[in-house]
Amino acid sequence: SEKISIGLLGFGTVGSGVVRIVENHQQELKHQVGSSVVVDKILVKDAKKPRAIEIDERVLTEDPEDIISNPNIDVVVEVMGGIEEARDYIIRSLENKKHVVTANKDLMAMYGAELLTVASKNGCDLFYEASVAGGIPIIRSLVEGLSSDRITKMMGIVNGTTNYILTKMSNEGSSYNDVLKEAQELGYAESDPTADVEGLDAARKMAILGTLGFSMNIGLDDVSAQGISAVTEEDLDYAKQLGYRMKLVGVAKRDEGKVEVSVQPTLLPKNHPLASVNDVFNAVYVYGEAVGETMFYGPGAGSLPTATAVVSDLITVMKNMRLGVNGRSALPPLHEKQMKTDED
Ligand code: NDP
Ligand code: HSE
Repeated sequence: SEKISIGLLGFGTVGSGVVRIVENHQQELKHQVGSSVVVDKILVKDAKKPRAIEIDERVLTEDPEDIISNPNIDVVVEVMGGIEEARDYIIRSLENKKHVVTANKDLMAMYGAELLTVASKNGCDLFYEASVAGGIPIIRSLVEGLSSDRITKMMGIVNGTTNYILTKMSNEGSSYNDVLKEAQELGYAESDPTADVEGLDAARKMAILGTLGFSMNIGLDDVSAQGISAVTEEDLDYAKQLGYRMKLVGVAKRDEGKVEVSVQPTLLPKNHPLASVNDVFNAVYVYGEAVGETMFYGPGAGSLPTATAVVSDLITVMKNMRLGVNGRSALPPLHEKQMKTDED
């Protein structure tokens, strides 16, 4: 078709970045997908609220049906966050034969397998690249780039907010509360930053990476997680004096078929590759038996980096529409889950 219509659920940090990229990269989009791409409707909680970017007020709506049940919308982009409402809107969009792109790791860590099944049953795409490590294309890399290999270990800094906090506390001596506030103002933190600082956000991302890397349905309950709220400036100073850097590190490893996934504050020698990942940057180290060591690095949160991942997913959906091959984004076949236990 000449025009592809997008409905956005949410117009906050990520949603406004998506609108910016779609508007500013119109030529590139048209070149790649052969159609113009228009954001036709945007769901918000409060349509009267001042917005980060200028928008025709007729585009904003407080009624989700204007998107979910709107026959003119081709693709729904869920960037509102939360779990139950987002799940309901996504399922109904898919049932209405709309493709979906989401940045929602809370949702994908909990209901990813269900949602991907609904998508494929309806012949629709469901992509979620932005849900892990913001602008780093790590999901694509696992699902496509490294699909021929047997991955045995993934280790990463996958939360931008906590990395920003640890970096500023360690390098500038800033206080925990001041830097957390800064991370919220910069749009890095979740609406309830407890998920960031207590390691829950990183645990969700590690569950997604573990599921994809090991082809097992790894849930949040399978991840042991500890955050950074108890880390003090003294801890960081002491670590530094001893030649270490403290980072919130997620590890997912497979040993003789048994998998272990965890998130915890970790002391890394200062010459370790993850020790120099600072501020809002994330990095994921992946070890595959054939490829050996690979490392992916980039901005882990923020408006335009995250929106880049969302719009790249949109491009994949639109290319699939052109070729008539949507509905193939289902989970790959999963092995039976085998987690490491205390007895192992
Ligand atoms: P924001 O809080 O900035 O924006 C949320 C938007 O959704 C707002 O526009 C809000 O409306 C709207 N919204 C929220 N709930 C509802 C609802 N129930 N009904 C209607 N509208 C609603 O969030 P972010 O943009 O930061 O995050 C969005 C998603 O992207 C989350 O899932 C987050 O985890 C994920 N994400 C965020 C990243 C980041 O760097 N911020 C990075 C990677 C993923 P209103 O504006 O009126 O309040
Ligand atoms: N709150 C998340 C973070 C956003 O700080 O990493 C990106 O997923």
